[in-house]
Amino acid sequence: MTSTDGLETAPDRAPTALPHLPRQTHTGQRVLLVDDEADVLLGLRRVLESAGYRVTCATSLAQAAATMRRERFQLVLTDLYLGASDLGVQIAEVARERRPHTPVVVLTGRPTFDAAQDALRKNVADMVVKPVDPQALLATCRRVIHDTELARRNAELESVNCVLTTVLPRTIEIKDPTTSGHAARVIGYTDVLAHRCGVAEEDRGSLRLAALLHDIGKIGIPDQILQKPGALTADEFEVIKRHPAMGYEVLAGLDGHDDVRTWVYQHHERWDGKGYPNGLRGEEVALPGRILILAEVYDALAEERSYKPAWPVEKIVALFREQAGKHFDPDLAHLVADGLEKMGGRFFAASQGLLF
Ligand SMILES: [Fe+2]
Repeated sequence: MTSTDGLETAPDRAPTALPHLPRQTHTGQRVLLVDDEADVLLGLRRVLESAGYRVTCATSLAQAAATMRRERFQLVLTDLYLGASDLGVQIAEVARERRPHTPVVVLTGRPTFDAAQDALRKNVADMVVKPVDPQALLATCRRVIHDTELARRNAELESVNCVLTTVLPRTIEIKDPTTSGHAARVIGYTDVLAHRCGVAEEDRGSLRLAALLHDIGKIGIPDQILQKPGALTADEFEVIKRHPAMGYEVLAGLDGHDDVRTWVYQHHERWDGKGYPNGLRGEEVALPGRILILAEVYDALAEERSYKPAWPVEKIVALFREQAGKHFDPDLAHLVADGLEKMGGRFFAASQGLLF
C-alpha cells in the first residue's frame, strides 16, 4: 500500500512474527528502512517489526532525505544500490549532515573490499550482506544502536567531566584571581608525592580530583573578603575558614567520591591538631589528605602572590623542616625537604602534564 507521503509501507495490521525469530523488546526504537524494491522492503520490515522496532519506509534518496529532515531515528537501514546508483552511501552522507548521531547500516549484494572501505569512509556504521540472514541483521541493528547510544552517553559524560575538571576550577580562579593556576599546580605536586609515597592508583585519581577542587568552597565566600588586598580581620578569617565545609557541601552530589569530599574538607587541617575545620590530629587525616595539605602550602610559598614574592627553595626547605610534626606530617615534610634540597623545583616536575 502507499502512505499519505507517498512512501511504500507495509499493511497497517500488526505484522506476523517470523516463527524462527524470538520476540525482542525494542519498542520505541525507530528504524528508517530504504530500498527501491517493494518486496524486499516488506520482508525487511517484517523482520524488524517482529523484533519490536517501529519502521518507516522510503524508496529513494529524496524520500529518505525528506523523512530524515522531519523525523528522528535510532537507525537508518538502506540498500547500497537503489536503481543503478550506490545511493546508500549518499543516504549515509545525508544522515551525517542532518542527523549526525543516527547510524547508517548498508545492505549490499556486492561486498567488495573497496566498496566496504568507501562505505566506512562515508560514515556507514556497518554493512550487511544480501541475501539477508534475519538473525544476523537484527544482531547488527542491536549492536549498532547500542554502540551509538553508548557513544552518545560517553560524549555526555565527557561534557560533564569537562564541567568538573575545567569549568568549576576556572570559576574558583575568577572568584579568587590571586590563585590563578593554583589548582592545576597542586594536582601535579600531589600526584608526585602520592607516587613517591606508594599511594594506590585508585586513590591517586581521587586525590587529583580533590586537588583540583579543594578550594571550590570559596565560591561561597564574599568577594570583599576573598579579594581584600590587606590583612584580614579575625572575623573575616573566620568567614574564610568556612570554605572547606562549603566545598564539602558543593561536592555533595559527587556520587562515589566520598574520599574526594573528605580530603577537600580536611585540606586546612594540621598534623598538630591546630588546623581547621575540626582540629584533626596526625593520621586522623589519611595520607592522601596529608599530601594535599602539604602540596597546597608548597604552591602558596613557591608562587608569587600579591602580598609576597615567590619564596626561594632554601626558605621553603627550612620551613618544611621546622613545621615537620607541627603543620605537616613529619615524614612527608622531610621527604619533600630532602627532595627539594637535592633537585630543587624539579622534584615536583616528574608527573606534570599527566593529570587526567
Ligand atoms: Fe583552601
